Amino acid sequence: MRVLVVGQGGREHAICWKLRQSPLVKEIYAAPGNAGIAQVADCVDIGIADIIELADFADSLKIDLTIVGPELPLTLGIVDEFQKRGLPIFGPTRLAAELEGSKVFSKEFMRKYNIPTAEATACNSPDEARDALKKTKFPAVLKIDGLAAGKGVVIVNSVDEADAYLRLVFEDKKFGNAASRILVEEYLTGEEVSFLAISDGKRCIPLAPAKDYKKAFDHDEGPNTGGMGSHSPAVVISGETAAEVMKTIMIPTINGMAEEGRTYTGVLYAGLMLTQNGPKVLEYNCRFGDPETQVQMMRLEDDLAEVCLKVARGNLGDTTKLSWKKEAAACIVTCVDGYPEDYMKGQEVALDPIDDDSVIVFHAGISKKDSKYIVCGGRVANVCARAATLTEALSHAYNAVNKVRYIGARYRTDIGLRALQQKRADSGSFPTFNG
Ligand code: AMP
Ligand code: GLY
Repeated sequence: MRVLVVGQGGREHAICWKLRQSPLVKEIYAAPGNAGIAQVADCVDIGIADIIELADFADSLKIDLTIVGPELPLTLGIVDEFQKRGLPIFGPTRLAAELEGSKVFSKEFMRKYNIPTAEATACNSPDEARDALKKTKFPAVLKIDGLAAGKGVVIVNSVDEADAYLRLVFEDKKFGNAASRILVEEYLTGEEVSFLAISDGKRCIPLAPAKDYKKAFDHDEGPNTGGMGSHSPAVVISGETAAEVMKTIMIPTINGMAEEGRTYTGVLYAGLMLTQNGPKVLEYNCRFGDPETQVQMMRLEDDLAEVCLKVARGNLGDTTKLSWKKEAAACIVTCVDGYPEDYMKGQEVALDPIDDDSVIVFHAGISKKDSKYIVCGGRVANVCARAATLTEALSHAYNAVNKVRYIGARYRTDIGLRALQQKRADSGSFPTFNG
């Protein structure tokens, strides 16, 4: 089988690494890939948004399966283009990907299908937003409608803070057209967890839940980032709650999308807040998480290529569940100081060898120039480890984190800490719900 992976981050490196273990997979191509991906796949210099070029490439090589990492090509309709040409591809169509591409659409969808989520008002102007804020308590959450690489959500504590953001959005047009509408949303409290499921449009099967740490600094302080670390099991979600999430959120979402004529295939990611009133959706993503995928791929027992091909063909067939290693996996993201705002690029990355098979460094923002590794993105490396318990996995990952060195390297030092402090920590209390 020939597989094409679209993307260039740690998530795609983990996907390629997992595909490499499949006896079904003979050739792996990645567009555009990165320095780490190049060790397990052939990198092709085509950008993630160049859909026609990607389809031409897949056509010319008779690619048997394409797996799309990031949301942008999905919201631009890469799946529609590939399907038009009869090329098997894993991911939702453009209309289905609107669940992530438009927060207003997803909020209205959840309301229509009684899927638990935060209360929110969609606003078309700063005045409408100010009116909505009068009816919402502080802190409140403001979300621009379109894609903003994780930067379109702010939590505001006062009218002044809200006004400053509204000016940025509507007057300075910081997000351009992505922000012609804005949601004013109720602030929820609780533990966050990433809940993902694969679907062939009719049925859905959960992935092992993972916990992602979105804030830039320790103790969940600072701005939101793409994610600064992750682990699976998530620990903070019980088997019972996971079953509730399937029943009240994942299955109704897949069924509702089919009813809307937007049949959803691929992987559906619900970012959840586990509130005192049960799990509620903060956002949907129409793709695998980053860095959740890194730990999920380290735990997945099944053949990723086989599962994704079934999904791409729109029939999960006899697959009713996925199997997960009993071991835990943890991921520490190293970034460049300043990320997610301005940061330095172009400095050399030193990668010391690691002689431990259970530790893997997935490359994120690393490119190769001549024979040197160079920083080319804010999140640079994902240092991951697998071990019998989450405590050990975290400790092995942290022990290896200094094997990746570059000017301005920084990482969070508290990944997993809060989860471990909770009673359900470690292997003795793995969620019973399939991982
Ligand atoms: P989103 O892109 O919608 O997931 O938002 C990014 C992050 O903002 C989430 O991971 C949460 O940490 C936070 N967030 C979003 N919506 C809410 C909400 N209604 N209440 C509290 N925090 C939120
Ligand atoms: N880790 C968050 C995301 O993939 O959106």
